[in-house]
Amino acid sequence: MRTYDIIKKKRDGYALTNEEIRFFIDGYVKGDIPDYQASALCMAIFYKGMNVDETTALTLAIRDSGDVLDFSKIRGVRVDKHSTGGVGDKTSLVVAPIVASLGVKVAKMSGRGLGHTGGTVDKLESIEGFKVDLDSKTFIDIVNKVGIAIVGQSASLAPADKMLYALRDVTATVDSMPLIASSIMGKKLAADDDCIVLDVKTGSGSFMKTVQESKQLASLMVDIGKKAGKKMLALITDMDIPLGYAIGNSLEVKEAIATLNGNGPRDFTEVCVALASNMLYLAGHGSEEECRKKVLSSISDGTAIKTFENMVTAQGGNAKWIQNPELFPTAKFSREVKAEKSGYINRVDAEGYGISALLLGAGRNTKEDKIDYSAGIILSKKTGDYVKEGEVLATLYTSDAQKLDSAERRFIESTFITEQKPILRPLVLDKVE
Ligand code: URA
Repeated sequence: MRTYDIIKKKRDGYALTNEEIRFFIDGYVKGDIPDYQASALCMAIFYKGMNVDETTALTLAIRDSGDVLDFSKIRGVRVDKHSTGGVGDKTSLVVAPIVASLGVKVAKMSGRGLGHTGGTVDKLESIEGFKVDLDSKTFIDIVNKVGIAIVGQSASLAPADKMLYALRDVTATVDSMPLIASSIMGKKLAADDDCIVLDVKTGSGSFMKTVQESKQLASLMVDIGKKAGKKMLALITDMDIPLGYAIGNSLEVKEAIATLNGNGPRDFTEVCVALASNMLYLAGHGSEEECRKKVLSSISDGTAIKTFENMVTAQGGNAKWIQNPELFPTAKFSREVKAEKSGYINRVDAEGYGISALLLGAGRNTKEDKIDYSAGIILSKKTGDYVKEGEVLATLYTSDAQKLDSAERRFIESTFITEQKPILRPLVLDKVE
C-alpha cells in the first residue's frame, strides 16, 4: 500500500477501505507518514467527503491509535459532554460541575482551541496553578472524591486525533463533517464513559453553518456512539450569536464562575441548563423536567460552584481566584469599539468575533503559538440590541497593543447594524436521540 495512492484515491472522490484508513492513521502516528501527506489527505477529505462506513472506520482507527481507558474504578454512572466548538462556548466549565454536584461522575478529557473556537483546556489553564495533565490514578481519585476532573487529552489517548487536530487547526481543514465526527467520537470512544451528550453548534460561529448540516453531524455521531454501546443524545444549539458576553480564556472563566453563582448571562445560562438537564436525564436521574429542577437548585443552593472550586483545588489551582475572580490578571491594553451608526444589531458574524479574539492573542495561528490568557473581547451589545452611533459595542483586551487595530477592524466588519430589528431564533433548536 502506498500513501500517495490513498491520497490520490480520495482526491479523485473514491471511498477508502478500512485497511487503507488504518494504514494511513497507523503510519501517521508512527511518524512514517509526514504532516504534509496527512494535510493533503485532510484537504482531500474536506473536498470529497466520506461515507458513513469510511467515517466509522476513521473513528475506530483514531480510537485504536492509543490507549482505550478503563474507568471501572470510578464509582457511579459516568457521563460526558462534548461540544463541536463555538465562540464564547464555556459550557463545559458550568455543566460539568453542575451534574457532578448532583451525583453523576464526570471524568472529562477536553481539547484546546481549534480555529476560531476556544478550548476548555486553554481556559482552565488561565487559572493559576491549574494542572490539566494528571496521571490516571490521580485523575480517577479526584473523580471519586470530588465527582469531577477535567484534563487535557493525554498523549496516549487517541494520539491520531491529537496530531490531526493540531494539523487541521492550521491547514483550514477543520470544518469537515467526517473529520469532526471522527475526531470527537474517536476520543470519546477511547474514554470509558457510559453516557455522552453532544452539543452540536449551528450557525456563523460554528463549523456547521446550517441546522440541516448540524443535524446530519449529530445523527452521524449519535449512531457511531450507539454502535459502540454508549447512551447518546445530541442537542443542536445556536451559534449565530456568541454565547454570553465574554470571548477569550480568562474572560470566559470569569463568566462561567458568575453563571455557576447564578449571575450568568441569560442565553448562556439557558444553554447550560438544557445541556446539564439532558446529561442528568441520560444518566437516569429522572424525567427531563425533574432534572431541570435539580440543575436549577444546584446553582441556587451553591453546590455547583462549590464543586467547581473543589475541582480547581484538587487539580492544583488557586481556589481564591474562583472566590474572587478579580484576582485573574487583566490585559495591559484595551480598546472600546464604538458603533459607526445608530440602529439594531441585526446580525453578527460570530466566526469573525472568534477571529478578532484570536488576533488579540486568545488563540493560536501556528501549532507552537502561546496563548495570551487575558486577551479577548467583552461584548456590551449583542444581536437584537439597539445602539446609538458612538455607543460602545465591545471592549478588546490584549497584552500586545499592536494587535488592537486588526482585531478592531475584524470586529467592526463582523457587526451588521440596520434599522430592522431581527427576529431571534431559539437557543436550543433540536434534539437527536
Ligand atoms: N471538536 C473536536 O474535538 N474535534 C473537531 O474536529 C471539532 C470540534
